[in-house]
Amino acid sequence: MKKILDLIALQMRAAFSACGYDETYAKVVLSNRPDLCEYQCNGAMAAAKTYRKKPIDIANAVADCLQGNEMFEEIHAVMPGFINIRLSAGYLADYMNGMREEKKLGLEESGNGRTIVVDYGGANVAKPLHVGHLRSAVIGESIRRMGNFLGYRMIGDVHLGDWGLQMGLIIEELRDRRPELVYFDENYSGEYPQEAPFTIGELEEIYPAASEKSKKDEAFKERAQTATFLLQNGYAPFQAIWRHIMRVSLADLRKNYDNLDVHFDLWKGESDAQPYIPGLIQDLKDRGLAYESQGALVVDIAEPTDSKELPPCIVRKSDGAALYATSDLGTILEREKDMKPTAYIYVADKRQELHFTQVFRVAKKAGYVACDTPMKHVGFGTMNGRDGKPFRTRDGGVMRLERLIADINEAVYERIMENRTVSEEEAKETAKIVGLAALKYGDLSNQAAKDYIFDIDRFISFEGNTGPYILYTIVRIKSILGKYASSKADSAATAILPATGAGEKELMLSLAKYNDAMETAFADLAPHKLCQYIYELSNAFNGFYHDNRILAEEDSQRKASWIQLITLVKDVLETCIDALGFSAPDRM
Ligand code: ARG
Repeated sequence: MKKILDLIALQMRAAFSACGYDETYAKVVLSNRPDLCEYQCNGAMAAAKTYRKKPIDIANAVADCLQGNEMFEEIHAVMPGFINIRLSAGYLADYMNGMREEKKLGLEESGNGRTIVVDYGGANVAKPLHVGHLRSAVIGESIRRMGNFLGYRMIGDVHLGDWGLQMGLIIEELRDRRPELVYFDENYSGEYPQEAPFTIGELEEIYPAASEKSKKDEAFKERAQTATFLLQNGYAPFQAIWRHIMRVSLADLRKNYDNLDVHFDLWKGESDAQPYIPGLIQDLKDRGLAYESQGALVVDIAEPTDSKELPPCIVRKSDGAALYATSDLGTILEREKDMKPTAYIYVADKRQELHFTQVFRVAKKAGYVACDTPMKHVGFGTMNGRDGKPFRTRDGGVMRLERLIADINEAVYERIMENRTVSEEEAKETAKIVGLAALKYGDLSNQAAKDYIFDIDRFISFEGNTGPYILYTIVRIKSILGKYASSKADSAATAILPATGAGEKELMLSLAKYNDAMETAFADLAPHKLCQYIYELSNAFNGFYHDNRILAEEDSQRKASWIQLITLVKDVLETCIDALGFSAPDRM
Protein backbone atom coordinates (compact mmCIF):
# COMPACT_ATOMS: atom_id res chain seq x y z
CA MET A 1 0.00 0.00 0.00
CA LYS A 2 1.13 3.48 -0.72
CA LYS A 3 1.92 5.66 2.24
CA ILE A 4 -0.95 7.89 3.22
CA LEU A 5 1.18 11.03 2.77
CA ASP A 6 1.99 9.94 -0.78
CA LEU A 7 -1.66 9.28 -1.54
CA ILE A 8 -2.62 12.75 -0.40
CA ALA A 9 0.30 14.22 -2.29
CA LEU A 10 -0.94 12.53 -5.43
CA GLN A 11 -4.22 14.44 -5.25
CA MET A 12 -2.39 17.58 -4.32
CA ARG A 13 -0.08 17.30 -7.32
CA ALA A 14 -3.00 16.91 -9.68
CA ALA A 15 -4.56 20.01 -8.17
CA PHE A 16 -1.40 22.13 -8.42
CA SER A 17 -1.03 21.01 -11.98
CA ALA A 18 -4.66 21.71 -12.88
CA CYS A 19 -4.25 25.23 -11.49
CA GLY A 20 -1.19 25.76 -13.65
CA TYR A 21 1.50 25.31 -11.01
CA ASP A 22 4.36 22.91 -10.98
CA GLU A 23 3.52 19.77 -9.06
CA THR A 24 6.83 19.73 -7.20
CA TYR A 25 5.24 22.26 -4.85
CA ALA A 26 2.58 19.76 -3.81
CA LYS A 27 4.47 18.22 -0.90
CA VAL A 28 2.27 17.08 1.99
CA VAL A 29 3.43 16.73 5.58
CA LEU A 30 1.90 15.84 8.91
CA SER A 31 0.30 18.82 10.55
CA ASN A 32 2.31 20.57 13.21
CA ARG A 33 -0.96 21.94 14.56
CA PRO A 34 -3.09 18.83 15.17
CA ASP A 35 -5.72 21.09 16.72
CA LEU A 36 -6.28 22.73 13.33
CA CYS A 37 -5.78 19.92 10.86
CA GLU A 38 -4.29 16.49 10.27
CA TYR A 39 -2.04 17.15 7.29
CA GLN A 40 -0.86 20.25 5.56
CA CYS A 41 0.74 21.44 2.36
CA ASN A 42 3.03 24.45 2.52
CA GLY A 43 3.91 24.51 -1.15
CA ALA A 44 1.97 27.65 -2.01
CA MET A 45 4.54 29.73 -0.12
CA ALA A 46 7.40 28.50 -2.29
CA ALA A 47 5.32 28.62 -5.46
CA ALA A 48 4.43 32.24 -4.74
CA LYS A 49 8.04 33.31 -5.28
CA THR A 50 8.27 31.56 -8.64
CA TYR A 51 4.91 32.73 -9.93
CA ARG A 52 5.04 36.15 -8.33
CA LYS A 53 1.63 35.79 -6.76
CA LYS A 54 0.30 35.95 -3.24
CA PRO A 55 0.64 32.59 -1.52
CA ILE A 56 -2.93 32.71 -0.29
CA ASP A 57 -4.24 33.08 -3.85
CA ILE A 58 -2.38 29.98 -4.94
CA ALA A 59 -3.46 28.06 -1.84
CA ASN A 60 -7.10 29.08 -2.38
CA ALA A 61 -7.06 28.03 -6.01
CA VAL A 62 -5.58 24.63 -5.18
CA ALA A 63 -7.92 24.05 -2.24
CA ASP A 64 -10.92 25.03 -4.39
CA CYS A 65 -9.87 22.54 -6.98
CA LEU A 66 -9.98 19.79 -4.36
CA GLN A 67 -13.44 20.56 -2.99
CA GLY A 68 -15.70 17.58 -3.38
CA ASN A 69 -12.80 15.16 -3.47
CA GLU A 70 -13.97 12.21 -1.43
CA MET A 71 -10.59 11.75 0.20
CA PHE A 72 -11.07 14.87 2.28
CA GLU A 73 -13.47 15.89 4.95
CA GLU A 74 -12.05 19.36 4.90
CA ILE A 75 -9.45 21.13 2.82
CA HIS A 76 -8.98 24.86 2.87
CA ALA A 77 -6.42 27.62 2.67
CA VAL A 78 -5.41 29.76 5.61
CA MET A 79 -3.13 32.77 5.85
CA PRO A 80 -0.48 33.29 4.73
CA GLY A 81 -0.89 30.33 2.34
CA PHE A 82 -1.10 27.02 4.14
CA ILE A 83 -3.45 24.36 2.89
CA ASN A 84 -4.97 22.54 5.86
CA ILE A 85 -6.30 19.07 5.38
CA ARG A 86 -8.54 16.61 7.22
CA LEU A 87 -9.11 13.18 5.78
CA SER A 88 -12.62 11.87 5.38
CA ALA A 89 -13.50 9.22 7.92
CA GLY A 90 -14.67 6.91 5.14
CA TYR A 91 -11.42 7.16 3.27
CA LEU A 92 -9.44 6.50 6.41
CA ALA A 93 -11.56 3.47 7.29
CA ASP A 94 -10.93 2.11 3.79
CA TYR A 95 -7.23 2.53 4.38
CA MET A 96 -7.53 0.61 7.65
CA ASN A 97 -9.36 -2.21 5.91
CA GLY A 98 -6.69 -2.25 3.25
CA MET A 99 -4.01 -2.64 5.92
CA ARG A 100 -5.84 -5.59 7.42
CA GLU A 101 -6.02 -7.38 4.12
CA GLU A 102 -2.55 -6.69 2.81
CA LYS A 103 0.48 -8.78 3.46
CA LYS A 104 2.73 -7.12 6.05
CA LEU A 105 -0.12 -4.79 7.00
CA GLY A 106 0.32 -2.75 3.87
CA LEU A 107 4.03 -2.22 4.04
CA GLU A 108 5.61 -2.32 0.60
CA GLU A 109 8.87 -4.23 0.51
CA SER A 110 11.62 -2.07 -0.87
CA GLY A 111 14.55 -4.44 -0.43
CA ASN A 112 14.05 -6.74 -3.42
CA GLY A 113 16.35 -9.28 -1.88
CA ARG A 114 19.38 -7.02 -2.00
CA THR A 115 22.15 -8.11 0.35
CA ILE A 116 23.22 -5.90 3.22
CA VAL A 117 25.87 -6.89 5.74
CA VAL A 118 25.23 -5.81 9.33
CA ASP A 119 28.26 -6.11 11.54
CA TYR A 120 27.21 -6.02 15.20
CA GLY A 121 27.74 -7.77 18.48
CA GLY A 122 31.51 -7.59 18.18
CA ALA A 123 32.21 -9.48 21.40
CA ASN A 124 35.81 -10.18 22.22
CA VAL A 125 36.43 -13.87 22.70
CA ALA A 126 37.54 -14.92 26.18
CA LYS A 127 36.82 -11.51 27.60
CA PRO A 128 33.59 -11.18 29.53
CA LEU A 129 30.68 -9.86 27.51
CA HIS A 130 29.85 -6.65 29.31
CA VAL A 131 27.28 -3.91 28.99
CA GLY A 132 29.45 -2.09 26.48
CA HIS A 133 28.61 -4.83 23.98
CA LEU A 134 24.95 -4.77 24.84
CA ARG A 135 24.16 -1.72 22.76
CA SER A 136 25.83 -3.08 19.64
CA ALA A 137 23.88 -6.34 19.93
CA VAL A 138 20.54 -4.70 20.63
CA ILE A 139 20.75 -1.98 18.00
CA GLY A 140 22.25 -4.27 15.36
CA GLU A 141 19.63 -6.94 15.90
CA SER A 142 16.87 -4.41 15.37
CA ILE A 143 18.45 -3.07 12.19
CA ARG A 144 18.83 -6.59 10.87
CA ARG A 145 15.21 -7.43 11.64
CA MET A 146 13.81 -4.23 10.14
CA GLY A 147 15.82 -4.79 6.97
CA ASN A 148 14.65 -8.37 6.60
CA PHE A 149 11.08 -7.26 7.12
CA LEU A 150 11.50 -4.72 4.32
CA GLY A 151 12.67 -7.45 1.99
CA TYR A 152 16.42 -7.02 2.13
CA ARG A 153 18.64 -10.03 2.57
CA MET A 154 20.29 -8.96 5.78
CA ILE A 155 23.41 -10.87 6.73
CA GLY A 156 24.18 -10.36 10.40
CA ASP A 157 27.79 -11.05 11.30
CA VAL A 158 28.92 -11.05 14.93
CA HIS A 159 32.49 -10.20 13.91
CA LEU A 160 34.21 -11.48 17.02
CA GLY A 161 37.39 -10.01 18.33
CA ASP A 162 39.16 -13.35 18.30
CA TRP A 163 42.68 -12.49 17.20
CA GLY A 164 44.13 -10.08 19.66
CA LEU A 165 46.56 -9.83 22.53
CA GLN A 166 44.02 -11.46 24.88
CA MET A 167 44.98 -14.77 23.31
CA GLY A 168 48.67 -14.36 24.09
CA LEU A 169 47.81 -13.25 27.62
CA ILE A 170 45.72 -16.34 28.23
CA ILE A 171 48.37 -18.62 26.76
CA GLU A 172 51.12 -17.24 29.00
CA GLU A 173 48.93 -17.20 32.09
CA LEU A 174 48.11 -20.81 31.37
CA ARG A 175 51.83 -21.58 31.10
CA ASP A 176 52.46 -20.02 34.49
CA ARG A 177 49.68 -22.01 36.09
CA ARG A 178 50.11 -25.32 34.32
CA PRO A 179 53.64 -25.55 32.85
CA GLU A 180 53.23 -29.31 32.53
CA LEU A 181 50.63 -29.02 29.74
CA VAL A 182 51.84 -30.49 26.46
CA TYR A 183 51.34 -27.19 24.65
CA PHE A 184 54.36 -25.86 26.48
CA ASP A 185 56.60 -28.84 25.83
CA GLU A 186 58.68 -27.92 22.82
CA ASN A 187 59.65 -31.53 22.23
CA TYR A 188 56.08 -32.76 22.14
CA SER A 189 55.16 -34.10 18.72
CA GLY A 190 51.92 -36.00 19.32
CA GLU A 191 48.34 -34.97 18.76
CA TYR A 192 46.94 -32.26 21.00
CA PRO A 193 44.09 -33.21 23.34
CA GLN A 194 40.49 -32.76 22.20
CA GLU A 195 39.47 -31.64 25.64
CA ALA A 196 40.14 -28.02 26.63
CA PRO A 197 42.43 -27.60 29.65
CA PHE A 198 39.95 -25.14 31.22
CA THR A 199 36.23 -24.57 31.70
CA ILE A 200 34.42 -21.35 30.83
CA GLY A 201 34.46 -20.47 34.52
CA GLU A 202 38.24 -20.79 34.63
CA LEU A 203 38.68 -18.98 31.35
CA GLU A 204 36.67 -16.05 32.64
CA GLU A 205 38.99 -15.82 35.59
CA ILE A 206 42.22 -16.41 33.63
CA TYR A 207 41.85 -13.46 31.28
CA PRO A 208 41.30 -10.72 33.86
CA ALA A 209 44.11 -12.15 35.99
CA ALA A 210 46.48 -12.16 33.02
CA SER A 211 45.44 -8.70 31.99
CA GLU A 212 46.10 -7.40 35.51
CA LYS A 213 49.46 -9.13 35.62
CA SER A 214 50.56 -7.63 32.30
CA LYS A 215 50.04 -4.15 33.67
CA LYS A 216 52.56 -4.74 36.45
CA ASP A 217 54.89 -7.28 34.94
CA GLU A 218 56.64 -6.03 31.83
CA ALA A 219 58.35 -9.38 31.13
CA PHE A 220 54.99 -11.13 31.25
CA LYS A 221 53.54 -8.64 28.84
CA GLU A 222 56.37 -9.23 26.40
CA ARG A 223 55.87 -12.96 26.64
CA ALA A 224 52.18 -12.46 25.86
CA GLN A 225 53.06 -10.35 22.84
CA THR A 226 55.43 -13.01 21.61
CA ALA A 227 52.83 -15.71 22.15
CA THR A 228 50.32 -13.65 20.19
CA PHE A 229 52.82 -13.24 17.40
CA LEU A 230 53.57 -16.98 17.35
CA LEU A 231 49.86 -17.81 17.31
CA GLN A 232 49.25 -15.44 14.46
CA ASN A 233 52.09 -17.00 12.53
CA GLY A 234 50.78 -20.49 12.78
CA TYR A 235 52.65 -21.98 15.77
CA ALA A 236 50.77 -25.29 16.19
CA PRO A 237 50.64 -25.69 19.99
CA PHE A 238 49.26 -22.19 20.45
CA GLN A 239 46.79 -22.69 17.65
CA ALA A 240 45.58 -25.74 19.52
CA ILE A 241 45.06 -23.63 22.65
CA TRP A 242 43.36 -20.97 20.55
CA ARG A 243 40.87 -23.53 19.25
CA HIS A 244 40.10 -24.56 22.81
CA ILE A 245 39.55 -20.95 23.82
CA MET A 246 37.31 -20.42 20.82
CA ARG A 247 35.15 -23.48 21.42
CA VAL A 248 34.64 -22.87 25.12
CA SER A 249 34.08 -19.17 24.72
CA LEU A 250 31.75 -19.44 21.73
CA ALA A 251 29.40 -21.81 23.52
CA ASP A 252 29.10 -19.21 26.26
CA LEU A 253 28.66 -16.33 23.85
CA ARG A 254 25.91 -18.12 21.96
CA LYS A 255 24.06 -18.65 25.21
CA ASN A 256 24.39 -14.98 26.10
CA TYR A 257 23.18 -13.76 22.73
CA ASP A 258 20.32 -16.27 22.78
CA ASN A 259 19.22 -14.89 26.12
CA LEU A 260 19.09 -11.48 24.50
CA ASP A 261 17.14 -12.90 21.57
CA VAL A 262 19.93 -11.65 19.34
CA HIS A 263 20.89 -13.81 16.38
CA PHE A 264 23.54 -13.88 13.70
CA ASP A 265 23.74 -15.43 10.27
CA LEU A 266 27.51 -15.54 10.44
CA TRP A 267 29.79 -16.24 13.37
CA LYS A 268 32.93 -14.90 11.80
CA GLY A 269 35.67 -12.95 13.41
CA GLU A 270 38.90 -11.09 12.93
CA SER A 271 40.75 -14.40 12.55
CA ASP A 272 38.81 -15.11 9.35
CA ALA A 273 40.29 -11.99 7.80
CA GLN A 274 43.87 -13.12 8.31
CA PRO A 275 44.26 -15.12 5.07
CA TYR A 276 43.41 -11.96 3.12
CA ILE A 277 45.95 -9.73 4.79
CA PRO A 278 49.22 -10.58 3.00
CA GLY A 279 47.54 -10.10 -0.39
CA LEU A 280 45.91 -6.91 0.81
CA ILE A 281 49.20 -5.39 1.96
CA GLN A 282 50.93 -6.43 -1.24
CA ASP A 283 48.18 -4.96 -3.38
CA LEU A 284 48.15 -1.65 -1.52
CA LYS A 285 51.91 -1.44 -1.90
CA ASP A 286 52.03 -2.50 -5.56
CA ARG A 287 49.47 0.10 -6.51
CA GLY A 288 51.27 2.82 -4.65
CA LEU A 289 48.40 3.42 -2.25
CA ALA A 290 50.34 2.40 0.83
CA TYR A 291 53.73 3.86 1.67
CA GLU A 292 56.26 3.64 4.50
CA SER A 293 56.06 6.26 7.17
CA GLN A 294 58.24 6.03 10.29
CA GLY A 295 58.60 2.31 9.71
CA ALA A 296 54.84 1.76 9.45
CA LEU A 297 52.85 1.20 6.29
CA VAL A 298 50.10 3.78 5.82
CA VAL A 299 47.43 4.85 3.34
CA ASP A 300 46.42 8.50 3.04
CA ILE A 301 42.71 9.05 3.40
CA ALA A 302 42.41 12.81 3.81
CA GLU A 303 40.06 14.55 1.39
CA PRO A 304 40.06 18.24 0.48
CA THR A 305 36.54 18.69 1.84
CA ASP A 306 37.42 17.44 5.34
CA SER A 307 36.78 19.98 8.03
CA LYS A 308 39.58 18.65 10.18
CA GLU A 309 42.77 16.88 9.26
CA LEU A 310 42.40 13.11 9.24
CA PRO A 311 45.46 10.99 9.90
CA PRO A 312 46.42 8.28 7.42
CA CYS A 313 45.24 4.73 8.02
CA ILE A 314 47.99 2.50 9.40
CA VAL A 315 47.78 -0.93 7.79
CA ARG A 316 50.97 -2.40 9.24
CA LYS A 317 52.90 -1.40 12.32
CA SER A 318 56.67 -0.98 12.33
CA ASP A 319 57.02 -4.36 14.08
CA GLY A 320 55.14 -5.99 11.20
CA ALA A 321 51.92 -6.58 13.14
CA ALA A 322 48.57 -6.09 11.47
CA LEU A 323 46.05 -3.81 13.16
CA TYR A 324 42.35 -3.45 13.75
CA ALA A 325 41.99 -1.53 10.48
CA THR A 326 43.92 -4.17 8.56
CA SER A 327 41.67 -6.89 9.77
CA ASP A 328 38.55 -4.88 8.94
CA LEU A 329 39.90 -4.39 5.42
CA GLY A 330 40.64 -8.10 5.14
CA THR A 331 37.08 -8.81 6.24
CA ILE A 332 35.77 -6.49 3.55
CA LEU A 333 37.71 -8.45 0.92
CA GLU A 334 36.15 -11.63 2.23
CA ARG A 335 32.64 -10.16 2.23
CA GLU A 336 33.06 -8.85 -1.31
CA LYS A 337 34.20 -12.26 -2.44
CA ASP A 338 31.49 -14.19 -0.60
CA MET A 339 28.44 -12.00 -1.00
CA LYS A 340 29.04 -8.68 -2.78
CA PRO A 341 26.78 -6.71 -0.45
CA THR A 342 24.92 -3.63 -1.72
CA ALA A 343 25.55 -1.90 1.59
CA TYR A 344 27.58 -2.26 4.78
CA ILE A 345 26.37 -1.34 8.24
CA TYR A 346 28.65 -1.43 11.28
CA VAL A 347 27.18 -1.00 14.72
CA ALA A 348 29.99 -0.01 17.06
CA ASP A 349 30.86 2.55 19.72
CA LYS A 350 30.90 6.08 18.33
CA ARG A 351 34.45 6.50 19.62
CA GLN A 352 35.47 4.22 16.75
CA GLU A 353 34.31 6.77 14.20
CA LEU A 354 37.77 7.66 12.93
CA HIS A 355 38.61 3.99 12.56
CA PHE A 356 35.59 3.37 10.35
CA THR A 357 36.13 6.53 8.31
CA GLN A 358 39.65 5.33 7.61
CA VAL A 359 38.60 1.79 6.74
CA PHE A 360 35.74 2.91 4.47
CA ARG A 361 37.94 5.37 2.63
CA VAL A 362 40.75 2.89 2.06
CA ALA A 363 38.22 0.28 0.83
CA LYS A 364 36.81 2.73 -1.69
CA LYS A 365 40.08 4.33 -2.67
CA ALA A 366 41.49 0.89 -3.46
CA GLY A 367 38.30 -0.06 -5.29
CA TYR A 368 37.59 -3.04 -3.07
CA VAL A 369 34.11 -1.65 -2.55
CA ALA A 370 32.26 0.22 -5.32
CA CYS A 371 32.28 3.93 -4.67
CA ASP A 372 28.49 4.10 -4.64
CA THR A 373 28.04 1.28 -2.13
CA PRO A 374 26.90 2.81 1.14
CA MET A 375 29.15 2.03 4.09
CA LYS A 376 27.70 3.25 7.34
CA HIS A 377 28.90 3.29 10.89
CA VAL A 378 26.05 3.48 13.39
CA GLY A 379 28.03 4.92 16.29
CA PHE A 380 26.41 4.62 19.66
CA GLY A 381 27.02 6.46 22.88
CA THR A 382 27.79 5.21 26.35
CA MET A 383 25.39 3.58 28.71
CA ASN A 384 25.76 5.52 31.93
CA GLY A 385 24.67 4.87 35.49
CA ARG A 386 22.39 7.22 37.36
CA ASP A 387 25.45 9.18 38.40
CA GLY A 388 26.03 10.05 34.74
CA LYS A 389 29.28 8.06 34.62
CA PRO A 390 29.77 4.87 32.57
CA PHE A 391 27.66 2.13 34.08
CA ARG A 392 29.42 0.09 36.76
CA THR A 393 28.54 -2.32 39.50
CA ARG A 394 28.38 -1.17 43.09
CA ASP A 395 31.92 -2.35 43.68
CA GLY A 396 33.07 -0.28 40.73
CA GLY A 397 33.60 -3.07 38.23
CA VAL A 398 32.20 -3.31 34.75
CA MET A 399 28.88 -5.05 35.09
CA ARG A 400 28.44 -8.39 33.39
CA LEU A 401 25.61 -8.68 30.96
CA GLU A 402 24.22 -11.79 32.62
CA ARG A 403 24.06 -9.97 35.94
CA LEU A 404 22.33 -7.04 34.33
CA ILE A 405 19.66 -9.21 32.75
CA ALA A 406 19.15 -11.11 36.00
CA ASP A 407 18.72 -7.83 37.90
CA ILE A 408 16.17 -6.46 35.50
CA ASN A 409 14.20 -9.73 35.44
CA GLU A 410 14.21 -9.79 39.21
CA ALA A 411 12.85 -6.25 39.41
CA VAL A 412 10.10 -7.02 36.90
CA TYR A 413 9.27 -10.23 38.73
CA GLU A 414 8.78 -8.35 41.98
CA ARG A 415 6.51 -5.88 40.29
CA ILE A 416 4.40 -8.64 38.77
CA MET A 417 4.18 -10.46 42.09
CA GLU A 418 2.91 -7.28 43.77
CA ASN A 419 -0.43 -7.95 42.10
CA ARG A 420 -0.23 -11.65 42.86
CA THR A 421 -2.69 -12.65 40.19
CA VAL A 422 -0.49 -15.27 38.58
CA SER A 423 1.51 -18.26 39.73
CA GLU A 424 5.15 -17.81 40.61
CA GLU A 425 6.11 -19.89 37.66
CA GLU A 426 4.13 -17.83 35.19
CA ALA A 427 5.44 -14.65 36.79
CA LYS A 428 9.01 -15.84 36.21
CA GLU A 429 8.36 -16.56 32.55
CA THR A 430 6.55 -13.27 32.08
CA ALA A 431 9.32 -11.40 33.88
CA LYS A 432 11.82 -12.71 31.34
CA ILE A 433 9.77 -11.46 28.42
CA VAL A 434 8.98 -8.11 30.01
CA GLY A 435 12.51 -7.70 31.35
CA LEU A 436 14.00 -8.13 27.90
CA ALA A 437 11.55 -5.61 26.48
CA ALA A 438 12.43 -3.16 29.26
CA LEU A 439 16.13 -3.54 28.58
CA LYS A 440 15.92 -3.34 24.81
CA TYR A 441 13.35 -0.56 24.64
CA GLY A 442 15.28 1.39 27.26
CA ASP A 443 18.21 1.31 24.89
CA LEU A 444 16.51 1.54 21.51
CA SER A 445 14.19 4.41 22.40
CA ASN A 446 17.21 6.71 22.63
CA GLN A 447 18.89 8.10 19.58
CA ALA A 448 21.82 5.69 19.22
CA ALA A 449 24.55 8.32 19.18
CA LYS A 450 23.48 9.76 22.50
CA ASP A 451 24.69 8.53 25.85
CA TYR A 452 21.85 7.34 28.01
CA ILE A 453 21.22 6.60 31.62
CA PHE A 454 20.51 3.05 32.54
CA ASP A 455 17.77 3.38 35.12
CA ILE A 456 16.13 0.08 35.99
CA ASP A 457 13.28 1.70 37.89
CA ARG A 458 12.34 3.83 34.94
CA PHE A 459 12.85 1.08 32.35
CA ILE A 460 10.54 -1.36 34.10
CA SER A 461 7.79 1.14 34.81
CA PHE A 462 4.45 0.26 33.26
CA GLU A 463 3.83 3.93 32.58
CA GLY A 464 5.58 6.40 30.33
CA ASN A 465 7.77 5.76 27.34
CA THR A 466 8.94 2.27 28.32
CA GLY A 467 8.96 -1.25 26.95
CA PRO A 468 6.56 -2.54 29.62
CA TYR A 469 4.07 0.23 28.78
CA ILE A 470 4.01 -0.90 25.15
CA LEU A 471 3.64 -4.54 26.23
CA TYR A 472 0.93 -3.58 28.68
CA THR A 473 -1.00 -1.98 25.82
CA ILE A 474 -0.73 -5.15 23.76
CA VAL A 475 -1.75 -7.31 26.71
CA ARG A 476 -4.73 -5.08 27.37
CA ILE A 477 -5.88 -5.53 23.77
CA LYS A 478 -5.33 -9.27 23.96
CA SER A 479 -7.46 -9.39 27.06
CA ILE A 480 -10.33 -7.48 25.41
CA LEU A 481 -10.13 -9.73 22.36
CA GLY A 482 -10.16 -12.80 24.58
CA LYS A 483 -13.28 -11.64 26.39
CA TYR A 484 -14.97 -10.73 23.13
CA ALA A 485 -14.20 -14.13 21.64
CA SER A 486 -15.62 -15.96 24.63
CA SER A 487 -18.79 -13.82 24.75
CA LYS A 488 -19.85 -15.06 21.30
CA ALA A 489 -22.76 -12.67 21.57
CA ASP A 490 -22.18 -10.59 18.50
CA SER A 491 -22.00 -11.21 14.83
CA ALA A 492 -18.53 -10.32 13.69
CA ALA A 493 -18.49 -7.50 11.18
CA THR A 494 -15.84 -7.88 8.59
CA ALA A 495 -15.03 -4.23 8.08
CA ILE A 496 -13.74 -1.34 10.15
CA LEU A 497 -16.40 1.37 9.99
CA PRO A 498 -15.65 5.09 9.60
CA ALA A 499 -14.71 6.70 12.91
CA THR A 500 -17.40 8.63 14.75
CA GLY A 501 -15.37 9.97 17.65
CA ALA A 502 -12.23 12.10 17.72
CA GLY A 503 -10.19 9.56 19.68
CA GLU A 504 -11.15 6.83 17.29
CA LYS A 505 -10.11 8.86 14.29
CA GLU A 506 -6.87 9.80 15.97
CA LEU A 507 -6.16 6.12 16.51
CA MET A 508 -6.77 5.43 12.84
CA LEU A 509 -4.54 8.31 11.78
CA SER A 510 -1.82 6.89 13.96
CA LEU A 511 -2.24 3.42 12.47
CA ALA A 512 -1.99 4.90 9.01
CA LYS A 513 1.55 6.07 9.76
CA TYR A 514 2.82 2.56 10.27
CA ASN A 515 4.43 1.84 6.90
CA ASP A 516 6.08 5.23 6.85
CA ALA A 517 7.43 4.76 10.37
CA MET A 518 8.96 1.39 9.61
CA GLU A 519 10.53 2.56 6.35
CA THR A 520 11.94 5.71 7.86
CA ALA A 521 13.36 3.93 10.90
CA PHE A 522 15.24 1.57 8.63
CA ALA A 523 16.31 4.14 6.05
CA ASP A 524 17.73 6.31 8.83
CA LEU A 525 19.10 3.27 10.73
CA ALA A 526 17.19 4.70 13.66
CA PRO A 527 15.23 2.18 15.71
CA HIS A 528 14.32 5.00 18.10
CA LYS A 529 11.98 6.32 15.42
CA LEU A 530 10.06 3.07 15.47
CA CYS A 531 9.94 3.30 19.27
CA GLN A 532 8.57 6.83 19.01
CA TYR A 533 5.91 5.56 16.66
CA ILE A 534 4.71 2.70 18.83
CA TYR A 535 4.66 4.96 21.85
CA GLU A 536 2.43 7.37 19.97
CA LEU A 537 0.23 4.52 18.76
CA SER A 538 -0.03 3.08 22.26
CA ASN A 539 -1.04 6.46 23.62
CA ALA A 540 -3.64 6.81 20.88
CA PHE A 541 -5.01 3.40 21.71
CA ASN A 542 -5.13 4.05 25.44
CA GLY A 543 -6.90 7.37 24.81
CA PHE A 544 -9.48 5.59 22.71
CA TYR A 545 -9.83 2.86 25.32
CA HIS A 546 -10.52 5.34 28.08
CA ASP A 547 -13.17 7.15 26.08
CA ASN A 548 -15.04 4.08 24.90
CA ARG A 549 -16.37 1.03 26.63
CA ILE A 550 -15.62 -1.40 23.87
CA LEU A 551 -17.14 -4.57 25.26
CA ALA A 552 -20.17 -2.77 26.66
CA GLU A 553 -21.01 -1.06 23.37
CA GLU A 554 -24.63 -1.74 22.45
CA ASP A 555 -24.43 -1.24 18.72
CA SER A 556 -23.09 -4.63 17.73
CA GLN A 557 -21.85 -3.41 14.34
CA ARG A 558 -19.90 -0.65 15.99
CA LYS A 559 -18.56 -3.01 18.59
CA ALA A 560 -17.45 -5.52 15.97
CA SER A 561 -15.75 -2.72 14.05
CA TRP A 562 -13.86 -1.66 17.16
CA ILE A 563 -12.76 -5.20 17.70
CA GLN A 564 -11.33 -5.22 14.19
CA LEU A 565 -9.71 -1.86 14.78
CA ILE A 566 -7.98 -2.87 17.99
CA THR A 567 -6.92 -6.15 16.41
CA LEU A 568 -5.15 -4.04 13.82
CA VAL A 569 -3.52 -1.99 16.60
CA LYS A 570 -2.29 -5.19 18.19
CA ASP A 571 -0.98 -6.52 14.88
CA VAL A 572 0.88 -3.30 14.14
CA LEU A 573 2.37 -3.12 17.64
CA GLU A 574 3.43 -6.74 17.58
CA THR A 575 4.98 -6.36 14.15
CA CYS A 576 6.94 -3.33 15.33
CA ILE A 577 8.20 -4.86 18.56
CA ASP A 578 9.24 -7.94 16.64
CA ALA A 579 11.29 -5.70 14.36
CA LEU A 580 12.78 -4.08 17.46
CA GLY A 581 13.71 -7.49 18.82
CA PHE A 582 11.29 -8.33 21.62
CA SER A 583 7.83 -9.77 22.13
CA ALA A 584 4.77 -9.51 24.36
CA PRO A 585 3.38 -12.02 26.85
CA ASP A 586 -0.30 -12.98 26.92
CA ARG A 587 -0.80 -11.56 30.38
CA MET A 588 1.19 -9.45 32.76
N1 ARG B 1 35.42 -6.14 18.86
C1 ARG B 1 35.28 -4.73 18.72
C2 ARG B 1 35.20 -4.07 20.10
O1 ARG B 1 34.97 -4.72 21.09
C3 ARG B 1 34.06 -4.34 17.94
C4 ARG B 1 34.02 -4.84 16.51
C5 ARG B 1 33.23 -3.93 15.61
N2 ARG B 1 33.21 -4.38 14.24
C6 ARG B 1 34.18 -4.22 13.37
N3 ARG B 1 34.05 -4.74 12.18
N4 ARG B 1 35.24 -3.51 13.65
O2 ARG B 1 35.40 -2.88 20.17
